[in-house]
Amino acid sequence: MSSSPLFQSISLGSLTLPNRIAMAPMTRGRSKNPGIVPTEMQALYYGQRASAGLIISEGTWISKEAIGFINVPGIFSEAQVEGWRAITEIVHQKEGRIFLQLGHAGLLSHPHHLDGELPLGPSSINPLTKSYTAQGVQDTVTPREMSLEDIQRTLSDYRNAAQNAKDAGFDGIELHVQHPSILSQFLSNALNKRTDQYGGTMENKTRFLLEVLDTVMTVWHSKRISVRITPNLSYSQPGETPDDSENTYRFVAQQLNKYDLAFLHIVDRPEPGISPEAQKDRKLFENFRKIYKGTIMANGGFTLEKANQLLEDGYADIISFGTLYISNPDLVERFRTNANLNDADPATFFVGDDNGYIDYPSLSLNEHYA
Ligand SMILES: Cc1cc2nc3c(=O)[nH]c(=O)nc-3n(C[C@H](O)[C@H](O)[C@H](O)COP(=O)(O)O)c2cc1C
Repeated sequence: MSSSPLFQSISLGSLTLPNRIAMAPMTRGRSKNPGIVPTEMQALYYGQRASAGLIISEGTWISKEAIGFINVPGIFSEAQVEGWRAITEIVHQKEGRIFLQLGHAGLLSHPHHLDGELPLGPSSINPLTKSYTAQGVQDTVTPREMSLEDIQRTLSDYRNAAQNAKDAGFDGIELHVQHPSILSQFLSNALNKRTDQYGGTMENKTRFLLEVLDTVMTVWHSKRISVRITPNLSYSQPGETPDDSENTYRFVAQQLNKYDLAFLHIVDRPEPGISPEAQKDRKLFENFRKIYKGTIMANGGFTLEKANQLLEDGYADIISFGTLYISNPDLVERFRTNANLNDADPATFFVGDDNGYIDYPSLSLNEHYA
């Protein structure tokens, strides 16, 4: 097993991953304190998973106005930077590597998160979905269309967060550009109806994302930055079809060829209204391999066999695993030895304490709670 493609090392610029098994970013809702500071329990959780070729952290708010979900940590206060530093230290002590995923919920936030203020969006369009707040699940509201000043401030928030990530000891950052991120909202035909330089044409709708990239590249080398996209629609809006969405992200991938990124992280998620067979026929990774010239990390429902197959076919370079990493902290060792996998409990994905978080067993009992 250890000679299979997943176990070949790979270099991303100056960073070498000993294997091609990455931990996908996953919000777990465990920063349960008023300052949304990452906790010691989170350090234990990430430390348990340090044998991954690369860990990508849970989506993390770049500013207070970016908040869109309860108990999710931020990277905009000194205390948050300290909390994250404890996490990067434990991962590095265990010879792992970790990127921070930068997130902004945009119009999917709610006044409950924002001291009564309206959330920000590319346009004043209510996405007519739900927002998860401390006061329970709420209907989303009509957001405030971002002014050019709001856009500039948000760029500066991305820059601060990128600098804070560096100060906290991360190995790199990932831009979250899929539902529910503000960056994907600017790319959406349904949610972006702007008539200025940030709306209308594909070039205009991509402008905000590329400006954010330029901004975070004033802090990080491009080889320490990744971008995460979901080209197929994982979240449908009236007025937007899966083909619209895939075309938009093809254009985005072409633009990203101009940046020498660490990798493009592509997620293949179940699409509303499309059968799994039809989705497979869309050959997402094969198509994007033709468009994007750099390193590709693939995600979405991979098993050991499917992952090795995609690498062997040459359609991706690294595979990230989400739910398998929730319940198998030593996924690398389990894949290496073809061991049984623990099942994950969805009831504790986004809520709970240590249960369903740091108590999934490793093969080596010494590692359990180590
Ligand atoms: C509990 C949970 C939280 C997630 N949070 C995030 C997140 O913060 N950022 C993100 O980009 N994707 C997030 N995702 C999506 C996962 O990264 C991944 O794309 C998805 O689980 C599919 O991969 P899998 O089939 O290997 O689980 C989350 C998924 C789960 C199950």
